[in-house]
Amino acid sequence: MPSQKTILRALAGETLPVPPIWMMRQAGRYLPEYRATRDMAGDFLSLCYTPELAAEVTLQPIRRFGFDAAILFADILLVPQALGLDLWFETGEGPRLSTVTTASDLAELRPVSDIHQTLSPVYETVRILARELPPETTLIGFAGAPWTVATYMIAGRGTPDQGPAHALLAQDRATFQGLIDRITEATIAYLSAQIEAGAEVVKLFDSWAGSLTGRDFDDFAIAPARKITAALKARHPGVPVIAFPRGAGERFEGLHAAIGADCIALDDGVSAEWAAAHVQRGGCVQGNLASPHMVTGGKALIEAARAVRLAFAGGPHIFNLGHGITPDADPANVQLMIDTVREPL
Ligand code: CP3
Repeated sequence: MPSQKTILRALAGETLPVPPIWMMRQAGRYLPEYRATRDMAGDFLSLCYTPELAAEVTLQPIRRFGFDAAILFADILLVPQALGLDLWFETGEGPRLSTVTTASDLAELRPVSDIHQTLSPVYETVRILARELPPETTLIGFAGAPWTVATYMIAGRGTPDQGPAHALLAQDRATFQGLIDRITEATIAYLSAQIEAGAEVVKLFDSWAGSLTGRDFDDFAIAPARKITAALKARHPGVPVIAFPRGAGERFEGLHAAIGADCIALDDGVSAEWAAAHVQRGGCVQGNLASPHMVTGGKALIEAARAVRLAFAGGPHIFNLGHGITPDADPANVQLMIDTVREPL
């Protein structure tokens, strides 16, 4: 029997009268119940590695808002940690990692077969969620895409322009390619294990794809995503893949086919009208309400949410923000977005 879950129907190419909806970073600091559970865990990484608490924060936005999908609570930087890098979060500043910048750093990384030792609590979180989620809610697993993960492994932190990664690419392409290949293999193993534990969809976050241009975009945004998607489809036929090459701009066009993904997630750097004409022809799209509306709310939010819904109404669409919700957002605005998206046209 075909699935009744609305997200899976949209991913299979169905045009629905009301688009299913979830939100990037829906489990996060804008929710008081998230902050309370994180305090109980002690810190962000302990929250990620404590399955009962990670499952709890994943479920919180489902209970409060009834989203159509839950996204596993974890972080894209757990994979570098599983490959042997040190990882910590500086309060108010973001992630810090030990770095990979030479062939010998690359040689010191742990083999891909070892990553499950570190990541097994994440799989346990997925198993808990597969049991506890309401039957209509889809469980989405995720990983960072190789380029984005590499930018953090090379710089040891977030960077505004991904300068250190571009520099390594220019100076030592063999080491850079070796790092991309290692992350690609680790991501296949990690996402496969999430699917085996119960993830029904997986999403690849390529947050910094927009700083790749020309052939580099082909080689380091498209090619690794294509390889990961093909490997997952071979091992787990029927499990949909969402690719999110944030900042791709005009290069969003044709990406369903280029990557082999079931859905392309759009940021708000492209208009919904343009994306409906140029990207949605290739398959399901996800997005792309600008996330600052979750802070400002009001009439502007209602109008913008209706405009996104209307623009994509002629094809398969999963409603979402263009990027993650920010800690200063008001939960009441999230409810207003959901009510607007679900109102009869
Ligand atoms: O979307 C979800 O709700 C699922 C969980 C999730 C988190 N991070 C939890 C998180 C997902 C999918 C991510 C992805 C992620 N992590 C990305 C790609 C998506 C994007 O936002 O572009 C990146 C680049 C990271 C790396 C990362 N993790 C950074 C740069 C930071 C610090 C920035 C910040 O918002 O503080 C994190 C921390 C992080 N990951 C938090 C959450 C809820 C905040 C940590 C806290 O509770 O203090």
